[in-house]
This record gives sequence, C-alpha cells and structure tokens, in this order.
Amino acid sequence: MSEKQAIISAFTDLAPRYEKVVDGELKRFWGWSYDGFIENLIAMTPMAEEDVVLDVATGTSVIPIKLVEQGKIKGQVVGLDITQAMLKRGQQRIAALGKPTCIALTCGSAMAMPFKDNYFDVILCGLATHHLDVPVVLAEMRRILKPGGRLTIADVGGAANWRLPGIRTLIRLGTFLYFWPKEGFARARSEAGALSHVLTPEEWRTKLADYEFTQIDITRLPKSHNWAPAPLVMAARKGLG
Ligand SMILES: C[S@@+](CC[C@H](N)C(=O)[O-])C[C@H]1O[C@@H](n2cnc3c(N)ncnc32)[C@H](O)[C@@H]1O
Repeated sequence: MSEKQAIISAFTDLAPRYEKVVDGELKRFWGWSYDGFIENLIAMTPMAEEDVVLDVATGTSVIPIKLVEQGKIKGQVVGLDITQAMLKRGQQRIAALGKPTCIALTCGSAMAMPFKDNYFDVILCGLATHHLDVPVVLAEMRRILKPGGRLTIADVGGAANWRLPGIRTLIRLGTFLYFWPKEGFARARSEAGALSHVLTPEEWRTKLADYEFTQIDITRLPKSHNWAPAPLVMAARKGLG
C-alpha cells in the first residue's frame, strides 16, 4: 500500500467518527477541544465577508461550516480533500445546516490543486500538513493565492532532535504502536509516516520564506503536557511582487 493509499484508507475508515476521535486526541495530547482549536485558527486569520476562501484538506468540512456559522464569509468557501468519504460526511454536515450555504467541496490532491492562479484571498489548512509534502503544497498555495492573500496553517510541530536517526525511529515506532490498537493499521501507518513532514517553527519560517511568503508569524500554542509535541499556527501573506 502506498503512503497516499494508506492515508485515504485511514480517513475512509475514520470519516464516520472523525470529529469525536479528533476531539478526544486533541484533548488528550494538548488539552484543546477540537472546536476550540478550529475557532482559534479562524480567529488568527484576518478575513473580509466577501473573501474567496479555500480550506486545504478540509476533511469533514469543519472549518468551512464554522466560517459560515460565524457569519465570517458570505462570498465563497471551497473545501478540498483527497478522501471521498470525508467529503461525503462533510456534505451531510453541510446539508444538516438546513439552509443554502456558500460552501463547495472538491475532491483532489493538495499537491496539484484544480484551481486557477491568483484566485483565493485566504487559504486555511488545519491538522493536515503532516500528511502532505510541505514544499509542494506551499508552492501550490502560493500559486493559487492572490498577491497579498493570507495563509494560515495550524498543525503539530516538531523538535530539532526528532531528526536524529535513533530518536526518529523511536518516535515513529511509538506513534505506530499508539494508533495501531486504537485505530487500525492504515491510520497507524499514515500517522507514523507523517512524522517526516512535521516541521519545527524554524523550519516552517525557512520554508515559507523559500516560497516567498512574507509577514510570517509563527505561534506556539499552549499545551497541557510537556512531553507532547507543540501545536503551531503559521500565518503569512503572499508577497505583492
Ligand atoms: C486530520 S484530517 C484534517 C481535516 C480538517 N482539516 C480538520 O481540521 O479537521 C487530514 C485530512 O487531510 C486529507 N489529506 C491527506 N492527504 C491529502 C492530500 N494529498 N490532498 C488533500 N487532502 C489530503 C485527509 O483525507 C484528511 O481528510
């Protein structure tokens, strides 16, 4: 099974339980509720009502629904994800709102997004970059953001010593063994494999600058346990040039 197939299989299995499982995991590791974490990501992103917004790796559409419920966006909110089952649940959750919304969901890869250059005012991405090839997705985000457009990414951060071979193997093994009994092989494999995409704040700053993002602001969010990896929020703008 390729890494991509493992991710799709893991999230297909997880889709019906997704919000509950993530809420439990965020509370356990960080002391954040899932709702609180997403509200914080949105609050850290300046937006205007008429903005055209993309949520990359939207999952079950939690971020787009929250944007609409909060009355933040009246223009267009697009959610993109590679796993059909996550989008299907997202579509059901949107329908449960019981009113027309400006949300559109699209199945596709964040590594080759089916959108025009310079299209979005705002791009958000929550809890997903550890499943993505970060340089490739940053190049795509830069391509489809308008000049001056805003990007906010929230995800788990790493520590510099995670790159040491012995430590990396131990963390990978620990991650696999944590997820396997609870969530099955595909999720265990995809979470353990994701470790190589987890970046430190310094690595995020360098990578965002490499892709010509400006006004880079990286916040380490509070967490409840010293041993847990820190949640990070990366906010930046696409340069005007
Ligand atoms: C942990 S979930 C995060 C979902 C949502 N952003 C949230 O905040 O709850 C990770 C999501 O990334 C999606 N994903 C993984 N690889 C992807 C890719 N290459 N392109 C688009 N979506 C991807 C998965 O299908 C899954 O829905």
